[in-house]
Amino acid sequence: MSRSIDLAVVPGDGIGQEVVAQGLKVLRSVLPQDVKLETKEYDLGAKRWHRTGETLPDAELESLRTHDAILLGAIGDPSVPSGVLERGLLLKLRFAFDHYVNLRPSKLFPNTATPLAGRPDIDFVVVREGTEGPYTGNGGSLRTGTPAEVATEVSVNTAYGVERVVRDAYERADARPRKKLTLVHKNNVLVYAGHMWKNIFDKVGEEYPEVTTDYLHVDAATIFFVTQPERFDVIVTDNLFGDILTDLAAAVTGGIGLAASGNINPTGEFPSMFEPVHGSAPDIAGQGKADPTATILSVALLLRHLGYEAEAVRIEETVAADLAERDPSAPRTTDQIGDALAVRVAS
Ligand code: NAI
Ligand code: MG
Repeated sequence: MSRSIDLAVVPGDGIGQEVVAQGLKVLRSVLPQDVKLETKEYDLGAKRWHRTGETLPDAELESLRTHDAILLGAIGDPSVPSGVLERGLLLKLRFAFDHYVNLRPSKLFPNTATPLAGRPDIDFVVVREGTEGPYTGNGGSLRTGTPAEVATEVSVNTAYGVERVVRDAYERADARPRKKLTLVHKNNVLVYAGHMWKNIFDKVGEEYPEVTTDYLHVDAATIFFVTQPERFDVIVTDNLFGDILTDLAAAVTGGIGLAASGNINPTGEFPSMFEPVHGSAPDIAGQGKADPTATILSVALLLRHLGYEAEAVRIEETVAADLAERDPSAPRTTDQIGDALAVRVAS
């Protein structure tokens, strides 16, 4: 049987262009010869918006839908008003393609810097709900711009949406050696959504007797991310809490240059999208200073999602080996890191 991957590529803005080129290099290198890789590049992001005023036209959304997966660099530039590209492009893609699992693994690789004392053993994954919570745009403002302005931003939580993401998190926990799942919410204050999350979490848990469960309020979770990160294995949480927690997770595990993510539609009805957690880094764009490792680890998540487990593991092991040899006093360029990893995954 001949195998193939039909990939949509959205390099986007700033360093997005630079790191995606390295991600593709490593992808081409790791794939066995019998796997046919086809890529189609999409011109979306700040430059496109300046040129045409468009963020994500319907025709392109339809075209993106036909691919097996999407690899995205980063979107955004200080010259575009805040919210235009986030809502009109990134969030639009996540909602249109029902990316209800936002997956963010956090692992402290050997020889990487962490601000935490004592180098704790960190290896956990956050399953962040991706289509509900306070990010649905359910709100508005009255008397805008006056001293009497009123603004609402309503958190939307459906039993359907919570159950499917909780179930996905149990599946992931059940497949890992430690089999531990922690729900993070704030059900002592956000009692309506919080209790629904906890009730569904407990009920679905009856189907996974092997998985040990825990519950933390989000404020307590931020303490444990710093003081005791080794206590976590899989974490499931709401869209906003997950956004904040995963930035903290990236900060304690070697920084933003290493943090990978997947916006996943587990049913396979729509293409899933893989991207580094970082943004377009306009401060270093075009200088060859961006670390492409986060994008390359996102390619590993992409391969795992498409069923190429051996290739995903090979990329992760190669990254670990490369990091172990990195010398902070001799930084390499974006290209040099990509080349080194591409050579190494092939052998
Ligand atoms: P950022 O992640 O782009 O940069 C934060 C800091 O980390 C900067 O000092 C940058 O130089 C550094 N950095 C980021 N990635 C790096 C890498 N691979 N290697 C080395 N250093 C790296 O976040 P910032 O500055 O808040 O946002 C810049 C733009 O990116 C904004 O327009 C923002 O909206 C957008 N953004 C887009 C995201 C996406 O496309 N998913 C996510 C986050 C921000
Ligand atoms: Mg964020």
